[in-house]
Amino acid sequence: MSGPTDAVAALAGVAHLDVDALLDDRGIGIIVCCGSGGVGKTTTSAALALRAAERGRKVVVLTIDPARRLAQAMGIESLDNTPRPVAGADEAAGGHLDAMMLDMKRTFDEVVESQASPEKARQILENPFYVALSSSFAGTQEYMAMEKLGQIQRDAQRDGTYDLVVVDTPPSRSALDFLDAPERLSSFLDGRFIRLMLAPARGPARLMTAGLGIITGALTKILGAQVLRDLQTFVAAIDTVFGGFRQRAMATYALLQDDRTAFLVVAAPEPDALREAAYFVDRLSSDRMPLAGLVVNRASEQPEGDLSGDAAYAAAERLRDGDPDGAVTAGLLRLYADQQRLVEREARLRSRFAAAHPTVATAVVPALPSDVHDLDGLRRVGELIAR
Ligand SMILES: Nc1ncnc2c1ncn2[C@@H]1O[C@H](COP(=O)(O)OP(=O)(O)OP(=O)(O)O)[C@@H](O)[C@H]1O
Ligand SMILES: [Mg+2]
Repeated sequence: MSGPTDAVAALAGVAHLDVDALLDDRGIGIIVCCGSGGVGKTTTSAALALRAAERGRKVVVLTIDPARRLAQAMGIESLDNTPRPVAGADEAAGGHLDAMMLDMKRTFDEVVESQASPEKARQILENPFYVALSSSFAGTQEYMAMEKLGQIQRDAQRDGTYDLVVVDTPPSRSALDFLDAPERLSSFLDGRFIRLMLAPARGPARLMTAGLGIITGALTKILGAQVLRDLQTFVAAIDTVFGGFRQRAMATYALLQDDRTAFLVVAAPEPDALREAAYFVDRLSSDRMPLAGLVVNRASEQPEGDLSGDAAYAAAERLRDGDPDGAVTAGLLRLYADQQRLVEREARLRSRFAAAHPTVATAVVPALPSDVHDLDGLRRVGELIAR
């Protein structure tokens, strides 16, 4: 019989992710935590960063939209886009922890400022299209997370400030957005749209200019001359600044492919999150990006006892109509059965993942009784993830 407890037993064979070995590996300079929305990427990144620092590494963690209380606990609620020391991290082992919260718009501004003359930079920064693009274009956050990672990495290599960068990824619906969005954004900025908006056209595109003139005329009527002028100025300016936009994205891509980088895919023990994790694992391998393992976060804890969920339910049913003591025992059995069934369900989901991806090492973090919003909570998650 293939009972539900078989699924739990089958997990014994799944490769175990040795988190401390990863954190202690001086050959690893970047750890990226990916996963679908709400699974615990920010918590995992912060917990790993704290643990690595307390084990002696010089760490900076780049977080994205951490919950307010967690940000307060880490001293990063002010958005100034510079890493700040985290008070309360134990530095006895010689390590250090800095943290920052990504300010997407500020990062975009910094790119512009570093690429253009002060005058030109000012023109761009004040342009209404730039303001809209830098704060709300889909994919901007993903691109900027990569951009900031690249910056921090370059500075760290130059100044020797950090030997490990832990990167949280944006709360996108899909984990794949982190890898796809920069390409999408750079093809938008480098691409045909830009060329079309740029008059006068060069080469064969000149043929199109006549048509474009008509369109521009129509747009002027609809949008007004000022808006159109803003758009054209923006496009012309951004083209010079971001001529190398794609190259920047590619450089960070290469950094992600380096074997000094390790990806951790975070997932909840739920069908959607694990499916998403499976896609992501496949994608990393086709993009030749180094996967360190899977973190199953907020897992249900195995209750004490050997009964399967079904057996506990059956026993509860038998006891239900007995004496009052029996009713209490039946209630407890039912609680046990509920918990056991959750564990079995999660085990089945994880076994399915493991069957399709037998080489992916896995760590499991149980669901804590409350949210993780301070350093003690992060430390606890760190201990659990490294078990
Ligand atoms: N193991 C855990 N036990 C209890 N609570 C947890 C655990 N892991 C994460 N949480 C809580 O779950 C919530 C979501 O976690 P977190 O913000 O890390 O997810 P996320 O993947 O970064 O989300 P988003 O996609 O929105 O960025 C937080 O309130 C966090 O404290
Ligand atoms: Mg998050």
